[in-house]
Amino acid sequence: MVARIATVAFEGTQVLDIDVQVQMSAGVVSFNLVGLPDKAVAESRERVRAALFSLGLSLPAKRITVNLAPADVLKEGSHFDLPIALALLAGMGVLPLEEMQRYTALGELALDGVLSPVAGVLPAAVTAATRNRGLICPERNGGEAVWAGEIEVLAAPSLLAIINHFKGTQVLGRPTAQVQDIGDEVTPDLRDIKGQETAKRALEVAASGGHNLLMIGPPGSGKSMLASRLPGILPPLAADEALDVSMIHSLAGLLDEGRLLRRRPFRDPHHSASLPALVGGGLRAKPGEISLAHHGVLFLDELPEFQRATLEALRQPMETGRAVVSRANHHVTYPARVQLVAAMNPCRCGHLDDPERTCGRAPKCAMDYQSRISGPLFDRIDLHIDVPAVSAADLSLPPPREDSATVAARVAETRAIQTERYQRIAEESSKAQQPRTNAEADGELLERVAAPDAAGRALLTQAAEQLKLSARGYHRVLRVARTLADMAGSDAVVKSHVAEALGYRRIVLGK
Ligand SMILES: Nc1ncnc2c1ncn2[C@@H]1O[C@H](COP(=O)(O)OP(=O)(O)OP(=O)(O)O)[C@@H](O)[C@H]1O
Ligand SMILES: [Mg+2]
Repeated sequence: MVARIATVAFEGTQVLDIDVQVQMSAGVVSFNLVGLPDKAVAESRERVRAALFSLGLSLPAKRITVNLAPADVLKEGSHFDLPIALALLAGMGVLPLEEMQRYTALGELALDGVLSPVAGVLPAAVTAATRNRGLICPERNGGEAVWAGEIEVLAAPSLLAIINHFKGTQVLGRPTAQVQDIGDEVTPDLRDIKGQETAKRALEVAASGGHNLLMIGPPGSGKSMLASRLPGILPPLAADEALDVSMIHSLAGLLDEGRLLRRRPFRDPHHSASLPALVGGGLRAKPGEISLAHHGVLFLDELPEFQRATLEALRQPMETGRAVVSRANHHVTYPARVQLVAAMNPCRCGHLDDPERTCGRAPKCAMDYQSRISGPLFDRIDLHIDVPAVSAADLSLPPPREDSATVAARVAETRAIQTERYQRIAEESSKAQQPRTNAEADGELLERVAAPDAAGRALLTQAAEQLKLSARGYHRVLRVARTLADMAGSDAVVKSHVAEALGYRRIVLGK
């Protein structure tokens, strides 16, 4: 007789069905785990044995084989403890054999039978819902599991609670759905920034159209300060986006008490971050910072200090919106649609534009410093701005009147215009995926939605020739001009929009 229960394994964001099978037969007394387990899974034998012992149960004196099928999928993580224990208990007649097959289970066991939270409960619950199964998970993951919809969720504090539930002596109620609390968190406000009007305008343009932004300026001019205020002016996550991002955070084990995210993620990895930390992967495949920032902001402060290979690896995800991670014998993918915000000093000493403070090697050192970042990466950034040092006069000004909430309201309006536009286009055309923001528009679509009027086109053509704009550079100007027109509530892209957009093109340092 074989006792079974379903569980899952993860490959990127893909959830694979795993069948835990337990057979107890006559023979030499043993307890074996087969089916390509990694170290954490192999160790679950000991945890399961100890947890059963703590309940006063011991394993039958039989030959016990636990098989995790299919055998060719590598089983990683500690969430296999619970399904193995449940299948054993079903095999021992403690739990109802037939009924257990209606559930997907995942959770880690402590030696005393208490269930510890695990990563990936939300995606597992969503998959269980499509298979018409219930879900058994640790109590602290219950808040995320119920977001999967109309499925039965048993979120138990311990193994004993599950046994009692099936015996009917202590029924586990449905957990309540948890969401991130954004009420009382203090977020930095734009009012703290004095002067820097151009930079603030660029920040609003970036937020409005979802554009990537690069800030260049001397130390202490407020670049990091500006970047940290971007999430405060971005619109909150739409329901489908919130679920998407929360799935990734769940896989990384970062969902705080199973609360669904509501605020756009803002990730600011340190420049010493390794390639797997940024793009994903590593010993156990984990989403990287670029995926954790999905639908939000990835802020790379001190851009040239990042390792070159790490930066280059960002190019492909920035283009496709997906991070592909190579594993030993296959690839896994994670979604990675981010808005990149980067900040850098113009040169190593940081004072290139200040003749009194600049070092003796300028402007050569600026070129060296800048050359650490490849042209194609610069090319993927729509907005390039100079953030000069703030003057003492600016600093003594009273705080500006406009706060983040006011700017956020304007940004939301501009975003609504874009959503409406691209939805209309999606309905007209048969293409499945349409952009949501101007920053995602490209090629033919861009030419269609952002065609400037005659004067605007004349200016653009002239600038393209004089500045030797590449095709990508040309499109970048159009894209930003479209956002500027949307911000002004104008259907047509006119000369002034093109002129402002041209101002945000790449600044070549040291020249
Ligand atoms: N425009 C400003 N208004 C008010 N305070 C400012 C402004 N700019 C800078 N500051 C002050 O200077 C500090 C340093 O700013 P910030 O860390 O943003 O500089 P930075 O441009 O990122 O410098 P670095 O290049 O060294 O990283 C801030 O914490 C803030 O106190
Ligand atoms: Mg800084």
